[in-house]
Amino acid sequence: MYCQEISLNEKRKNENMLNDKPTVIVTGGAGYIGSHTIIELLTNTNYHVVSIDNYSNSSKSTYDRVKAITQKSVDFYEIDLCIPGDVEKVFGAYKNIIGVIHFAAFKSVSESVANPFKYYSNNINSQLNVLQACLKFNIRNFIFSSSCSVYGNINALPVSEKTVLNKAESPYAFTKQVGEEILKDYCLINKNLQSIALRYFNPVGAHISGLNGENPINKASNLVPIITQTAIGKLPMMEVCGNDYKTRDGSCIRDYIHVTDIAIAHINALNYLLENKQKSNFELFNLGTGNGVSVLEAIASFEKISGVKLNYKIGPRRPGDVEAIYSDTSFTEKILGWKAKFTLDEMMDSAWKWEKNCAEK
Ligand code: WQD
Repeated sequence: MYCQEISLNEKRKNENMLNDKPTVIVTGGAGYIGSHTIIELLTNTNYHVVSIDNYSNSSKSTYDRVKAITQKSVDFYEIDLCIPGDVEKVFGAYKNIIGVIHFAAFKSVSESVANPFKYYSNNINSQLNVLQACLKFNIRNFIFSSSCSVYGNINALPVSEKTVLNKAESPYAFTKQVGEEILKDYCLINKNLQSIALRYFNPVGAHISGLNGENPINKASNLVPIITQTAIGKLPMMEVCGNDYKTRDGSCIRDYIHVTDIAIAHINALNYLLENKQKSNFELFNLGTGNGVSVLEAIASFEKISGVKLNYKIGPRRPGDVEAIYSDTSFTEKILGWKAKFTLDEMMDSAWKWEKNCAEK
């Protein structure tokens, strides 16, 4: 049973109820990182939360899981952010929006290589429309969901916020490079807009309760859901995409970080903006653990915590993959006062617990 969806005109009737309630708008709030961030917002703040999502890779049932964990509801709207009028309708229904967190985007590296236009059209247009709505309604704080994929293939690791970006290795990565530049330019001419771009490394795992996690309605393309789906038997086998890279075991290296660590970083970032601590009105922060982990090491961690021998084979390299990337986290720790807490084993354990819970449904 879904939470009761509140229609826009009903919202207008209740306008007085929300007039002065500080409100955070979360785009992509039914998605993986968005829903985990909403859980942390509802748990750690008194803000009213509004979610906008078109359910292209999620479902409304997410909001029921958020309510089961937090005992709180959010207002949610099924809106395509590529339609500017619809975006402004939602923004106009709330009088005290203190911040916008923009997650909504397509995010599969491999899919973006196969269908670049879908990624350019959706990811760029939706960001432009959300930013226009922020300007129209004079919203002061904007957090942009960026990605470590903006760095491209970098030899000198770990990467820091000062690392010069290389060529994006996929259209997905390019939409995040362009997204950061768009935001920077908006902030140059709109001094009232304070913004932060958070460069996520590889978000994995599930809420510690086992009641929320990755719930893509499309075929999973990311490593950890493919591991857990293989382990539970949804997939007969998985492939390691290449073991001939110049890394310690030949497989690609990433900086896997628990989705709840990512979510909590958004609370730190929002507070930093609300307390007007910014040096400039556009700042970038890495969200990683600082630990590089190979695909084979991630598989070994999963096998250790689950006791399941994973059925995998070595396959060809995947187009769009970078060889290795992991983060220098010192700037984010210093400025945002945030540090990742979950270990790789805990990430895998939470992902496996979620997969098993889903199988029982
Ligand atoms: C990780 C590694 C694959 C599947 C992700 C998100 C992107 C961004 C960055 C946040 C790669 C290998 C995968 C499989 C494999 N995050 N792999 N077999 O591509 O680093 O990008 O993190 O914004 O949105 O997509 O993550 O999990 O797809 O791949 O060997 O069946 O696992 O080759 O080396 P990626 P991923």
